[in-house]
This record gives sequence, C-alpha cells and structure tokens, in this order.
Amino acid sequence: MNTDRKKLVIAIDGYSSCGKSTIAKDLARVLNYIYIDTGAMYRAVTLYAMRNGMIKDGEIDKEKLINSLNKIKITFRQNPETKQNETYLNGENVEKEIRRMDVSNNVSRVSTIKEVREYLVQLQREMAKKGGVVMDGRDIGTVVLPDADLKIFMTARPEVRAERRYKELKAKGENVSKEEIMRNIQERDRMDTTRKESPLRQAEDAIVLDNSDMTPQQQLDWILNLVNKKR
Ligand code: DC
Repeated sequence: MNTDRKKLVIAIDGYSSCGKSTIAKDLARVLNYIYIDTGAMYRAVTLYAMRNGMIKDGEIDKEKLINSLNKIKITFRQNPETKQNETYLNGENVEKEIRRMDVSNNVSRVSTIKEVREYLVQLQREMAKKGGVVMDGRDIGTVVLPDADLKIFMTARPEVRAERRYKELKAKGENVSKEEIMRNIQERDRMDTTRKESPLRQAEDAIVLDNSDMTPQQQLDWILNLVNKKR
C-alpha cells in the first residue's frame, strides 16, 4: 500500500442494524485505519447507568447520570487474538455486555440526553484528530466530524436488518424472537430520527449506500472505490 497517501477521515452513519460496523471494521482493516464505534460509547454509558441504578423501568435519573459523567471513562483496546477493537468501561472489558438486548432497549433513550452527547462528541473528536479513522454512528457526518473527507449514509430494508440482527444474536446464544428485534429496530429508528439533539439524518454531502441486496465484500469494494478517488 502506498503510505504517502492522505490519511482520510471517514464518517459512516445510518439506521440501526444495517451493517455499519461490519463495513467500518472491514474498511479500517484494509486501509490500516483506526475504527471507532460510537454506538459502543453510548452503550457503555447506558450500561454504567443500568449498573448504578439510574435506569428503572426505562426511566432515567438524568441528573444523577449527568453528574456521574466525569466518572465514566470509555476506551478502546485491540484484542491481540482477534485484532478487533473492544470497548472498556473504567478499565473493564464490556464488549459483550454492551450488546445485550436490555442495553439495546435503553440506549436510544440515554442517547437523547444533551450532556451525554456533548461528553461523547468531545471524546470522539479527540479520537479522530490525527486522521486515518473510520467512525460510525448516527451524527458523525452531521455533528461530530462535519469536515470528514468521505461521508456514507447507510440504509437497508427493515426486514433485512431484523434478519441480520436475529442471526447475530442467535449466534451469540441470546434467546430473542424476530418480533422483539423488529420492535427494537423500529423503536430505535423512531427515537434516533425524531430526537431533539443531533437526530439521525443524512448529511447533505453524504453518499447513500442501500446494502439490502449486497454482500459485505460488495459493500467494501463500493466504498474502497470512493476512498481511492479521495486519496
Ligand atoms: O450503533 P449502535 O446500534 O450500537 O448504537 C446504539 C445507540 O446509540 C443507537 O440506538 C443510537 C445511539 N447512537 C447515537 O445516538 N449516536 C451515535 N453517534 C451512535 C449511536
């Protein structure tokens, strides 16, 4: 690979469970860039709130959570065996726990809190400062990195997304129904697109990728073609 090439900042936004992280990880691996999963950061804050009794029956004690933000340290470390980045909450590996269904059910609500977003956005900008990053989320191209070199907005048909998520959770041994997953996806789409703070929307200069009928390899080739035009 030509190392003189410009180190890009790549923003990938889109709906829940449409394969953003799969493609972002593949892209980062091929380009030798850093992958930053911002959804994992919102999930880690949610897990912290759940563990510390700040979420009861879906109700969040916002004030308590906001006052605790300075005690929440989120980092990523590479697993030497899998070479994948894993999420750490105050030094503890929480990669598996943050993907649980109960965390998924609370995370969109936590991510509506302005102070939570401000705290994480500042961390995300710091992580992207040196370039050579692929960052995925909901507001990367619009709010976190509006000057990104390349912005992708991903989407896929809801039934395709539910099927993919179902297979993923089944493979991990979680006992969930397709109906429950569909409900969770639709509810997260609704909350992510209608919230007041940094709602999910396509940046004006983002390029849309509907991957309903594409394999991961086809998606990777499609994006690499765009990346090579920018470098
Ligand atoms: O990408 P994910 O499904 O792991 O994200 C979990 C939730 O976090 C998602 O429902 C919305 C929220 N999120 C957000 O509001 N902004 C981001 N940049 C990333 C995720």
